[in-house]
Amino acid sequence: MRLKTLVTSSVIPAAALSGCTAAPAGFPASGNGLWYNTTSTLWETSYLPVGNGFLGAMSPGGMAVEATQLNIESLWTGGPFLDPTYNGGNHDPSQASFLASAMQSIRDSIWANATGEIDNVEVLTSPFADYGSYVGAGYLISTINASGPVSNFARWLDLDEGVARSTWMQSGQTFVRETFCSHPSEACFHHVASSNTTLPDVTFAWAILGSLLPAPNITCQDANTLRIRGFSAEPGMLYELLGEVHSTQGHVSCSALNAINATISVTGGNEAWISWVGSTEYSMDAGNVESDFSFQGPDPHEALVTLLNSITNTSYQDSLAAHIADITDVLYSQFSLSLGQTPQIDLPTDQIRAAYEVDTGNPYLEWVAFNMGRYLLASSARGTLPANLQGKWAKDINSPWGADYHSNINIQMNYWSAEMSNLNVAGSLFDYIEKTWAPRGAITAQVLYNISRGFVTHDEMNIFGHTGMKGGPDGGNTAEWADYPESAVWMMIAVWDRFDYSNDIAWWQAQGWPLLKSVASFHLDKLIPDEHFNDGTLVVVPCNSPEQVPITLGCAHAQQQIWQLFNAVEKGFNASGDTDIAFLQEVQTKRAQMDKGLRIGWWGQLQEWKVDLDSPTDTHRHLSHLIGLYPGYAVSSYDVEIQGGLVVNETHLTYTKDDVMNAAMTSLIHRGNGTGPDANSGWEKAWRAAAWAQFGNASEFYHELTYTIFTNFAPNLLDMYNPYNPADEGPLFQIDANLGFPAAVLNALLQAQDTASFDLPLVITLLPALPDTWSSGHLKGARTRGGITLSMEWADGKPTSVTLTVDANPISTTRPVQVVFEGKTIRSFTTTPNLNITLVDF
Ligand SMILES: *[C@@H]1O[C@H](CO)[C@@H](O)[C@H](O)[C@H]1NC(C)=O
Ligand SMILES: *[C@@H]1O[C@H](CO)[C@@H](O)[C@H](O)[C@H]1NC(C)=O
Ligand SMILES: *[C@@H]1O[C@H](CO)[C@@H](O)[C@H](O)[C@H]1NC(C)=O
Ligand SMILES: *[C@@H]1O[C@H](CO)[C@@H](O)[C@H](O)[C@H]1NC(C)=O
Ligand SMILES: *[C@@H]1O[C@H](CO)[C@@H](O)[C@H](O)[C@H]1NC(C)=O
Ligand SMILES: *[C@@H]1O[C@H](CO)[C@@H](O)[C@H](O)[C@H]1NC(C)=O
Ligand SMILES: *[C@@H]1O[C@H](CO)[C@@H](O)[C@H](O)[C@H]1NC(C)=O
Ligand SMILES: *[C@@H]1O[C@H](CO)[C@@H](O)[C@H](O)[C@H]1NC(C)=O
Ligand SMILES: *[C@@H]1O[C@H](CO)[C@@H](O)[C@H](O)[C@H]1NC(C)=O
Ligand SMILES: *[C@@H]1O[C@H](CO)[C@@H](O)[C@H](O)[C@H]1NC(C)=O
Ligand SMILES: *[C@@H]1O[C@H](CO)[C@@H](O)[C@H](O)[C@H]1NC(C)=O
Ligand SMILES: *[C@@H]1O[C@H](CO)[C@@H](O)[C@H](O)[C@H]1NC(C)=O
Repeated sequence: MRLKTLVTSSVIPAAALSGCTAAPAGFPASGNGLWYNTTSTLWETSYLPVGNGFLGAMSPGGMAVEATQLNIESLWTGGPFLDPTYNGGNHDPSQASFLASAMQSIRDSIWANATGEIDNVEVLTSPFADYGSYVGAGYLISTINASGPVSNFARWLDLDEGVARSTWMQSGQTFVRETFCSHPSEACFHHVASSNTTLPDVTFAWAILGSLLPAPNITCQDANTLRIRGFSAEPGMLYELLGEVHSTQGHVSCSALNAINATISVTGGNEAWISWVGSTEYSMDAGNVESDFSFQGPDPHEALVTLLNSITNTSYQDSLAAHIADITDVLYSQFSLSLGQTPQIDLPTDQIRAAYEVDTGNPYLEWVAFNMGRYLLASSARGTLPANLQGKWAKDINSPWGADYHSNINIQMNYWSAEMSNLNVAGSLFDYIEKTWAPRGAITAQVLYNISRGFVTHDEMNIFGHTGMKGGPDGGNTAEWADYPESAVWMMIAVWDRFDYSNDIAWWQAQGWPLLKSVASFHLDKLIPDEHFNDGTLVVVPCNSPEQVPITLGCAHAQQQIWQLFNAVEKGFNASGDTDIAFLQEVQTKRAQMDKGLRIGWWGQLQEWKVDLDSPTDTHRHLSHLIGLYPGYAVSSYDVEIQGGLVVNETHLTYTKDDVMNAAMTSLIHRGNGTGPDANSGWEKAWRAAAWAQFGNASEFYHELTYTIFTNFAPNLLDMYNPYNPADEGPLFQIDANLGFPAAVLNALLQAQDTASFDLPLVITLLPALPDTWSSGHLKGARTRGGITLSMEWADGKPTSVTLTVDANPISTTRPVQVVFEGKTIRSFTTTPNLNITLVDF
């Protein structure tokens, strides 16, 4: 994506204070966290995120008054809640024949002149109206009646526990605030305590602050529960939050200030806390024809009352302990990484960040950023909806790019690290695709493409099944974004990988395979014979390489991906239980016949298009045609037997693997470092880092990885789309590089790229691009495809001990595996159930 809008942020002024000069008591001795001795400033660059997937909160780490910003995962403007006739940006079915002839004339034009007679496909797009945006759910204002000078201030995010805290001394007592969102209880908590037996009076209130959210009704549900009920917009979606206040010893009372506002006070307590739950009337189960795409669920009130009741008698300590146990279990019990880092716990994270330099790096900060990425994914993905462009954290009524599900790199990157780092959190992504993409995407397939099987989606996706080609608000050429019917194809990498890594046959049969089959079915029909080159291949047309200008045919990105999808169909067919052999055979036939999207052009580059149009000076942000290098495998596992051999100008060309890899490297070099005239975002650098690691180039890998932190990571380590600059009042948070970062790190330590078939060796490469600064370390419980768990220790840049264990039930029990280090095969084996191999000689 490219920068379109700027938003302004509300700034809470910093109080005069003196801060801690060492990490606060309780900060992990390992250094696994972020801490600061100054108050927070901008939401984007300094607030600290907590979340359980259902709810999110951004903690400013306040003192006497703290305004914690809240989110509910499905709180959106737009869609059918704004306009009941909203139809996902689709054309009326009565326009099908008009669209078919428009499509035909676009194709005819491209057949006649593939270098660009047509400069737009506006006729196929449809209005952007009612698309909506993910919105913030207001602020929890917690006030402690304390005043006077503050000392010993610190605020921090403990990544071992998933808890944000602040502490300070004021009027002779030490205060501690604590905020977390618990996945097991589906609730969030904010707790206030002090070193004295009795706390000053504490109040809890709800506010909308600078946001344009319509003011909700805030009432007393009972003596200790606030009920917040409002709409995301007018008209818009109904939401509700219930916040129940507890205190040990103290007296809790709720008072209505007026008809639309109330607060809760605690007097005489020695601790006070509020636990809140929240939800909306949105339901993805109603995103289908039977429900008339209403996305209408029940009023959330009753379910919230039940949920809150389920925790009302749980002590705060028990709720906290259950949350910490959950975070430990999900993030650290099965997987761990060491980069040989030395923690710098006595320096605040913002100072460590400020001293960070490209190439020099800092293994400690890189390790924290790695853990932060996995923490953010687990904290945003484990709800009913997947992690969006901002995970689940957004404060405004119009989030940048709607904090939507941009699916031509961004949302895919969010999940890159999950499988290898043993994080089973993609379930909500698959539900979201199944329930909000597939049903209306089948209508789009029919109306826009005259294809009656499978479904199609495009790049920009909301939670209301916006499956049409999203036209621009002001007309103009939107093909760069809109003309992307491959968004679901790319998503199928994640679906296939879930099965390849987990061997979960029950899930595969119930959800994974039906999705894969549906997307593949659509593309079987959409691929058509190339009438421009007339070389007997099948191609996509019209196509745009993501966010690139020419509208042409046979875009490499699309061809490589569809080929990979067809391979996954073949690999997963036996386990699917499907008996549709005709479908399998059609996939096999068209896979053989299709253009593979691999051509070497006039300056030795891997062509981005079937027509040799690449410019050597194009430093575009996307690496679309290198998708087969990483995260895909059409390039990195190139096999001449199945992909080689094409006819160009009646000449037979056969590329070797080296030819293809060298061309991909030429393209990568010319694509620049992720700072171009078009954009300077974090995700383009994280992608380049992973791509350089794929070439085994440790110094270029580390250059891009360190450049990502240096340019785009703010003091709270959140990734900014625009380069982080302390003076910038309008930074744009975008989570993709945070979540792509751990994937890039992993790709330097361990690679096991997919292959076209189970007969081709799965090559597991150890430490392919290890930078000097990480010369010793360990990786425990990493997963690779083929159902393999791998643990490795290394020292002086070489593995010292590696254990590989094959699951009891790998999908294929005959898959050849080669373990490679420094270009040499150390061990070969097949994926025999329960095989356990330890390697110590390198
Ligand atoms: C924060 O801690 C650092 C490192 O000890 C110290 O140099 C700095 O003065 C402290 N800042 C404040 C505001 O206390
Ligand atoms: C859709 O495709 C079918 C089969 O090729 C064809 O008969 C029909 O006329 C097409 N529909 C439109 C609206 O063009
Ligand atoms: C194709 O279109 C381009 C752009 O309009 C034009 O410059 C070129 O001459 C055309 N080529 C042919 C063969 O018509
Ligand atoms: C805060 O405490 C002070 C001193 O105990 C008291 O005078 C004041 O009324 C309290 N303010 C509120 C808002 O409760
Ligand atoms: C808190 O306790 C300390 C130490 O006992 C005492 O000096 C201070 O006055 C107390 N503060 C309040 C507000 O009660
Ligand atoms: C409710 O009252 C509190 C306390 O005065 C205030 O901070 C908050 O902004 C009010 N909330 C709304 C939604 O008006
Ligand atoms: C808020 O209260 C007003 C007045 O009682 C009522 O008309 C409105 O429907 C309420 N809004 C919600 C979201 O319940
Ligand atoms: C919580 O405990 C109180 C006191 O034991 C009891 O009356 C109440 O029913 C309990 N509530 C729930 C929801 O279990
Ligand atoms: C599927 O099963 C058939 C028949 O047993 C076998 O020949 C084929 O190799 C299997 N395919 C895969 C991808 O495992
Ligand atoms: C194929 O022929 C065209 C037209 O003669 C020429 O422009 C192009 O460079 C040739 N391509 C290759 C790969 O030789
Ligand atoms: C990145 O590329 C830009 C543009 O070529 C160049 O000005 C800059 O020095 C490079 N920076 C790094 C750290 O590679
Ligand atoms: C595999 O072997 C290693 C080293 O002998 C041992 O520690 C580990 O427990 C074994 N794992 C399994 C699953 O048998």
